[in-house]
Amino acid sequence: MVKHDLKILFVEDDDLMRNTISNVLKKNAETVILASNGKEGLELFKQEKPDIVITDIMMPVMNGLEMIHEIRRLGSNVKIIVVSAYSEKENFLKSIALGINNFLIKPISYKNLLNILEELANIIQLEKNVETEKQKKLQAQEQLKIAHAELENRVVERTQELAVANQQLIEFQETLQDKIAKSVTEIRLKDHIMMLQSRQAVMGEMIGHIAHQWRQPLNTIGLLTQSLLFSYRNSNLSDEMLEDRVNKIMVVLEHMSETIDDFRNFFNPNREKINFSVESVVQKTLSFVESSFQKHKIELELDIEDDCQINGYENEYSQVLMNLLINAKDALVDKIENNRKIWIRVSRRMGKSCVEIGDNAGGISAKIKDKLFDPYFTTKKDENGTGLGLYICKTIIETKMNGYIDFSNDKNGAVFTIII
Ligand SMILES: Nc1ncnc2c1ncn2[C@@H]1O[C@H](COP(=O)(O)OP(=O)(O)O)[C@@H](O)[C@H]1O
Ligand SMILES: [Mg+2]
Repeated sequence: MVKHDLKILFVEDDDLMRNTISNVLKKNAETVILASNGKEGLELFKQEKPDIVITDIMMPVMNGLEMIHEIRRLGSNVKIIVVSAYSEKENFLKSIALGINNFLIKPISYKNLLNILEELANIIQLEKNVETEKQKKLQAQEQLKIAHAELENRVVERTQELAVANQQLIEFQETLQDKIAKSVTEIRLKDHIMMLQSRQAVMGEMIGHIAHQWRQPLNTIGLLTQSLLFSYRNSNLSDEMLEDRVNKIMVVLEHMSETIDDFRNFFNPNREKINFSVESVVQKTLSFVESSFQKHKIELELDIEDDCQINGYENEYSQVLMNLLINAKDALVDKIENNRKIWIRVSRRMGKSCVEIGDNAGGISAKIKDKLFDPYFTTKKDENGTGLGLYICKTIIETKMNGYIDFSNDKNGAVFTIII
């Protein structure tokens, strides 16, 4: 037989009976504690906390019923087996009222005793199992609670972290916006300065033009003034003659002043987009450079295939043409001696205006073609080149007027094309 993992308290006043039964019990249970009356039994019960109490009823000092009563009063529902004589029926009934689990009638049948023990052992084991399960469940619930609390803490922490990160992001965005705004202002300022610098290059050409334009009228004024002096000295200066000469001089001066107005107009950037004819701007721009080109023995060839009206900034467009013409002139003067030629073609391509400006200076080498439109890129020595001309051309045509500018080489030289 297997020994049960049980602690049994056996309370019996009869020494012989106690020893005999205890021997049987010891074979079947791990621990057996013995007491010889109810009082002793109650003490041992409190100390040892047995799984089963087997007790006689009639005992000195404290009887079994009183002991059971006390045990139950302690709140314990330990398994209790009552042992008594058949004649003590009354006591059995009382003990049942106290909530006992089984009883044995003296003389005790070992078989009965062992059966009851077996049965109780099973019940106790089951109860223990239930208890462990209950404990486990409680433990799991406790862990779940802890995990839940931890999770909540983490959520709170993460939320705070996120709030901080978000704040940083907002601040970062604000600084970024500030920085961008500052950069944009700087770029605008830089562009503006570049525009002014590039205009200066064109201005040299314009002054040359004015000087040339003025040479003839200045000469005329000189002659008219001298003729006045001559007539006066010879005393044949009539009123009519004086008036005629002064009128002539005034016409010439008027003409000279127009040249200056043209010049001033050219240097006033347009504030608003207007419709203008490409051909007329080309003609006007050519008139500004003609004189200087004649001086350098450059032949100008203008071919108007088709004129177009475009919407944009007229003066800026003219400035682009001027830059391209000056670049062509510079290349020609630098590279070839005779037969210098610049051609301009005005046409329409797929409904858009097209102006091509070509020369016979030999073209642009592949080595520098990627840098051509970069600001400050120049191959010209010293103060001859600012490297801003083509950069400004690109800004005006592509950024301000939504057009397109590029170049290619033909067999004679570079060809710049503007499409708007
Ligand atoms: N028609 C051309 N033929 C040969 N080279 C040219 C021509 N146009 C421009 N380039 C080259 O492009 C460079 C940049 O031109 P640009 O931006 O106008 O600056 P810059 O005229 O001040 O040098 C010039 O230095 C020159 O090397
Ligand atoms: Mg230039």
